[in-house]
Amino acid sequence: MTGADPLATSLAGVQFANPVWVGSSELTMTREGILACLGAGAGAVIAKSVNESEAARRQLDIADYAFLDDRRARVPAAAADRSAALLNRSGLVQQSLEDWLAVLEEGRRAADRLGSVLIGSITTGDPAAAPEIVRALSSVTGHVEVNVGAPHAREAAGGAVTQLTSGEGLRELVSRVRPVCDGLLLLKLPDAGPLTPSLVEAARSAGADAVVLTGRQHGFLPDIETLDPQLGSWGAYSSPAALPMSLYAVSKAFVQTGGELPLVGTNGARDAADVLRFVLSGARAVELVTALWIEGPAYVSTLLRDLERLLAGIPAAGLEQVVGASVARSRAYADVEPVVPPARPWARWLEQADPPGRA
Ligand SMILES: Cc1cc2nc3c(=O)[nH]c(=O)nc-3n(C[C@H](O)[C@H](O)[C@H](O)COP(=O)(O)O)c2cc1C
Repeated sequence: MTGADPLATSLAGVQFANPVWVGSSELTMTREGILACLGAGAGAVIAKSVNESEAARRQLDIADYAFLDDRRARVPAAAADRSAALLNRSGLVQQSLEDWLAVLEEGRRAADRLGSVLIGSITTGDPAAAPEIVRALSSVTGHVEVNVGAPHAREAAGGAVTQLTSGEGLRELVSRVRPVCDGLLLLKLPDAGPLTPSLVEAARSAGADAVVLTGRQHGFLPDIETLDPQLGSWGAYSSPAALPMSLYAVSKAFVQTGGELPLVGTNGARDAADVLRFVLSGARAVELVTALWIEGPAYVSTLLRDLERLLAGIPAAGLEQVVGASVARSRAYADVEPVVPPARPWARWLEQADPPGRA
């Protein structure tokens, strides 16, 4: 039990005040945004991603963001609530790397003052260019997150953003950036379905300190009146409905690595209960973006207050004591007892005295 500090968490020996982290996004793309997120009390803030590609920078000029209500209608950002999904196109930081490092420097000093942590981020374009960028980011922030799972990769101009889905390619990349990262090296992976375990293993064996699961899914949504797809293209999709899929990836990685590789959750958390669900599935921290766009960075303090209250309701639990607790209670199908009486939710249509369709 962590006593006075129930929200404290750690990854590979690095301490964080709490597990509520702000994910890399437009919210963390400016000096003001980074300072606002740090000031709101986040345990860590992941800066917006950079890479070497001019096309990835230009892609920000065509960024668009469709907030969708539960009937899949586009709503203005100001009218969206936390049940909204977000389909978007986005690009990367447009400043030169030198100017961006100056922004990060100011952010890191603020983080030090506030007891938080600023983490630099790269979304890979040309993997060969990654080591120099990781070295530069790490010289300012120490810790670096490498995103190899950006869902924009398939739509982006050639080479602007690369999604790595082979263990071999990932192992090669990690082994080249590991030596030039002085702090934590976090690998943000795509939801690659049955391939995800091989990516987790490649990241771990090549020396990543932590794995972030999972990047968002790809999305496509026709408007049934205009017939145009939302955004006029494909996009990256974030939704509260994605949460169980993200928890699946985290919990399976927790089993796979025996709880020894630190995991960070992302994709689908909208409130403190969701943050706790990530932790119970094996994550030591959670990166949120969409909920903080909807509510504003100050929502971090609500998340922290609610999370502390939820943890207080679990006997003898500080956060670190419940990491993976639900995984430990989960069984393979072969070990599950028969359900008594049998679950037959489909049968109500067939057991009526006069079921619809009977001649
Ligand atoms: C508009 C937008 C821009 C994003 N940009 C980046 C990025 O540059 N690099 C990155 O690693 N992740 C990026 N992400 C992914 C987020 O960091 C986060 O993992 C994702 O939104 C899932 O979390 P959520 O459900 O809380 O939104 C972006 C997400 C959004 C919505």
